[in-house]
Amino acid sequence: MSLLITNIGELTTNDPELGILRDAAIVVGQQVEWVGPAAGAPAADERLDVRGAAVLPGFVDSHSHLVFAGDRAPEFAARMAGEPYTGGGIRTTVAATRAATDDQLRANVARLVGEALRQGTTTIEIKSGYGLSTLDEARSVRIAAEFTDEVTFLGAHVKPADSPDGYLDLVTGPMLDACAKYAGWVDVFCERGAFDVTESRRVLKAGIAAGLRPRIHANQLTMGGGVQLAVELDCASADHCTHLSDADVDALANSDTVATLLPGAEFSTRAPYPDARRLLAAGATVALASDCNPGSSYTSSMPFCIALAVRDMNMTPTEAVWAATAGGARALRRPDLGHLAPGASADLIVLDAPSHLHLAYRPGVPLISSVARKGTFTSLCVEEGHLLNASGPHHPESPHKGVLS
Ligand code: NIG
Ligand code: FE
Repeated sequence: MSLLITNIGELTTNDPELGILRDAAIVVGQQVEWVGPAAGAPAADERLDVRGAAVLPGFVDSHSHLVFAGDRAPEFAARMAGEPYTGGGIRTTVAATRAATDDQLRANVARLVGEALRQGTTTIEIKSGYGLSTLDEARSVRIAAEFTDEVTFLGAHVKPADSPDGYLDLVTGPMLDACAKYAGWVDVFCERGAFDVTESRRVLKAGIAAGLRPRIHANQLTMGGGVQLAVELDCASADHCTHLSDADVDALANSDTVATLLPGAEFSTRAPYPDARRLLAAGATVALASDCNPGSSYTSSMPFCIALAVRDMNMTPTEAVWAATAGGARALRRPDLGHLAPGASADLIVLDAPSHLHLAYRPGVPLISSVARKGTFTSLCVEEGHLLNASGPHHPESPHKGVLS
């Protein structure tokens, strides 16, 4: 079954040769089959007219912590009243998570994955890290694996208050053994008060030996050695990168390690944003992700992160959209994702807007009209081959739907 999506006002391909196309069409099965000018499109089994809307690759959210229970709204309110963020609240969520049933945790992940999908996220990485016991970490990665192929074991999030001694032996031994079969990645919070560089190296190396690939929370709150460790171990991504030395920037630029920036965390902890322009100028690969978690960044919205990156980190709208799609795909080492060229997974978003620029230009507005994963739309309002909800004033012939009366 093939689908021709036509009358695309602007198609962001993230393909270096195809670039951004106007008046374009795309033919998809589970993968992208054809991309080009609408006038030259081949026939397909079905046809969908998006009436001048923008189409772009689905967002690849390469960093989230969705397996948890409860929330930390009072902690957020205290921060907005001037309290600093230290990561100490992680233990509050650990207690709530341990007390929850599997079904409660599953329902919370389903709720957040649904939120993310409706906002254009077609791939999401999910970490454990609020269990911190062998049993609770194992069920966290097991539940995460019900929702995504990109599961990360983050047993080394913090040392649990009840058993800090010997935790490193546990996290690199029996806990890792219990979790490795459900996860593809190993992560560690390399930070003062969490795990130092020596401990982080041990955690990541144990994970690698168990067949997992490494990624790291690095340089979020202080300028430690996390980024250097990321490059040393060829981590797919160093995440946060809020406090970087010149040597850190150089190391990232000369490596295959992506700098994943999480502006939702700086927004919600009222911290200075990472210097995206410095990383881009040096030639580092930059990704944007949500960091969705109940403590430092309780947003599942990639469009919100794009708007922050543009407004507060001086990324151009085009750079920010690339970082939230192709950048995330690089951070997960998934060459099949984050771009729309023949052979890529047909994961795409139709906007209720004529251009990808509107994602930052119209912050907080639900512009995601339709989302397709592997060529299948999750929700689609179609009449006679027309997409009804991608019918804004950008197309002169579009019917005037959505009037409130
Ligand atoms: O990526 N920094 C460590 N982990 C999360 C925050 C977790 C929490 O506060 O619950 C982060 O920001
Ligand atoms: Fe995180």
